[in-house]
Amino acid sequence: MEPTSGTALTGRDRLAEDVRRGLGRRQKQLQPRHLYDALGSQLFEAICELPEYRITRAERRLLAAHAAAIGGGLASPVTLVELGGGNGEKLVLLIEPLVRRLPDLRVALVDVSATALDLATRTLGRFPGLGVTGHQATYEDGLRRVAHGRSGDDTMMVAFLGSNIGNLDPSAARTFLGTLRSALRAGDRLVLGADLVKPEAELVLAYDDPLGVTAAFNKNLLGRLNRELGANFDLDQFAHRAVWNATASRVEMHLESLCAQTVSIPGADCRVRFAQGESIWTESSYKYETEEIAALAAAGGFTRRDQWVEPESRFAVTAFDAT
Ligand SMILES: C[S@@+](CC[C@H](N)C(=O)[O-])C[C@H]1O[C@@H](n2cnc3c(N)ncnc32)[C@H](O)[C@@H]1O
Repeated sequence: MEPTSGTALTGRDRLAEDVRRGLGRRQKQLQPRHLYDALGSQLFEAICELPEYRITRAERRLLAAHAAAIGGGLASPVTLVELGGGNGEKLVLLIEPLVRRLPDLRVALVDVSATALDLATRTLGRFPGLGVTGHQATYEDGLRRVAHGRSGDDTMMVAFLGSNIGNLDPSAARTFLGTLRSALRAGDRLVLGADLVKPEAELVLAYDDPLGVTAAFNKNLLGRLNRELGANFDLDQFAHRAVWNATASRVEMHLESLCAQTVSIPGADCRVRFAQGESIWTESSYKYETEEIAALAAAGGFTRRDQWVEPESRFAVTAFDAT
């Protein structure tokens, strides 16, 4: 998947343009950020509770154990920025040791989802006096805004957790990390959570749970196009598919058309034909080895400080310095 575009289009216009372009491709495709409308964000919350989706619990364990080291050595004033943070619960784990020694800590939240920003702002309410600003924006646009508004002497720590990096293909991830680095200054820090390669059965189950929550999360994207763009997708005529592509090292989520059908999307000014079995590719989740994570960030201009791996679920949190 491509990184988000930095053009001036926003909201419904951005969605309409992405839909028109993505569904016009030979392999129909929609960008994963569109999965997160209000309902999609709540469904993602439910995914995090699923026994089969181990990413959230594994990363929380690592952050709880190593938060002090992750933020170690940072001196006031510090701005902690989370990109695509969802409900803010992981940020709490990073903030706890910092706020004790840095009472003037400030936090900036960047997320495309207003619901996620709301949840996170409420979560951070448990730190009275903590300065929190929310930016409903793509990673790149939000980061640009935060970097533009920073003071001359503060240090920034950017958290990019939950394997959000895995939604970008490796070349887009390198470009994204380069963009991130160029918005930072030497001495700033990055904490990156990334899921690791593991047995196929475990990976597929994490994205195709028996309860059907991930299927609902995926199909909600079509519901969103019905609600926001006046489309007439029949959700019963599409099936959720999660497949492990071993060559590319990614789990792909698709919505597969169960019959030959044509769908109208007036808000995107298009009609889309589907053959039976044809799919819309909605998300990739790339899985890495620990050394590949360090190499990706190194190509972007970061130096690894430390890395912690949760061996049971195979998840890694890596702290980097902007050098
Ligand atoms: C997979 S969830 C992960 C949430 C959180 N990091 C966690 O670990 O639980 C991805 C989050 O990033 C947001 N998001 C997805 N794509 C985005 C983009 N391109 N720009 C900004 N936010 C994005 C979503 O709204 C969602 O809150």
